[in-house]
Amino acid sequence: MSRKIAVLTSGGDAPGMNAAIRAVARCGIAKGWEIVGVSQGFAGLVNGEFLPLAARDVGGLLAKGGTMLGSARCPEFSKDDVREKALRNLNRAGISSLVVIGGNGSQTGGAALNDMGFPTLGVASTIDNDLVGSEITIGVDTALNIALEAIDRLRVTAASHQRGFMVEVMGRKCGYLALMAGIAGGAELVLLPEIDFEPAEIAEAIHDAYRRGKSHAMVVVAEGAKYNAEALVRHFKTQSTGFELRATILGHVQRGGVPTAYDRLLATRLGAGAVDALDKGISGVVVGMNQGVVSTTPYAEIVGRTKGISPDLYQLAHVLSR
Ligand code: F6P
Repeated sequence: MSRKIAVLTSGGDAPGMNAAIRAVARCGIAKGWEIVGVSQGFAGLVNGEFLPLAARDVGGLLAKGGTMLGSARCPEFSKDDVREKALRNLNRAGISSLVVIGGNGSQTGGAALNDMGFPTLGVASTIDNDLVGSEITIGVDTALNIALEAIDRLRVTAASHQRGFMVEVMGRKCGYLALMAGIAGGAELVLLPEIDFEPAEIAEAIHDAYRRGKSHAMVVVAEGAKYNAEALVRHFKTQSTGFELRATILGHVQRGGVPTAYDRLLATRLGAGAVDALDKGISGVVVGMNQGVVSTTPYAEIVGRTKGISPDLYQLAHVLSR
């Protein structure tokens, strides 16, 4: 039987994906596997876009954000005939197993291929940190640090002008990035998808901060929250909060940039863990980091679920904002 691993990156790119590709390639080669990269995620599988990866092909990648393989959203992969085509391409290329580096949607695609009998496993990678099976995922630390840098900068101008800023951060339907950025950035408020709120309560909380003598108000809004930053600023035009309000949307800025040391190390360890698992004949799992240890969680425990936020940390953010 051939010993050939294909590796792809899928969904939103996350800083550190390149380090994971490098680790899969170099650790795989060290264990006698042949390594093949797949361009543009699942779309590349469907189109048969494979490229051999030798040790030198993955050099100079650690400090680069994005993914050298390219990534894509591939909603068609939920169709049986599209997956059949991918499976045929994998078999024709003599590939024996597949590593999917990505988040929730990507791991769902990987699980479907595994269910079709093709040995597949995932590496937990998304800036959103919403993937069950890994306490922290590749890209979160870098995205959080980018958000923090923006918040720190905004606070300087906010305090100079006695303004309030609604800073919107990414995270899809998960408030993790917003909550952590709020705590580490000293926000007056964090607005999360997991917590219901009405604009009137938010206006009152900002007004209260004004009355308490704060020089500014920093509100971190998760993109999946009930109202986004621009909608809230529009709403508050007719309601006094004491501060003049502005909205800043960080968006994809959070996904670019140089991966932090933490993300490079996490990605390297998870990539190496993926090869270790395949070498032991393990597939049908996602490789993640739990309690400081590289571990595997079956697809069945991951697909269709989303990680929640810690209520204790949400409370802490509230207490610290006094
Ligand atoms: O999943 C990562 C993420 O950046 C989310 O935070 C965001 O909602 C989404 O991807 C944006 O997707 P796209 O880059 O396809 O617009």
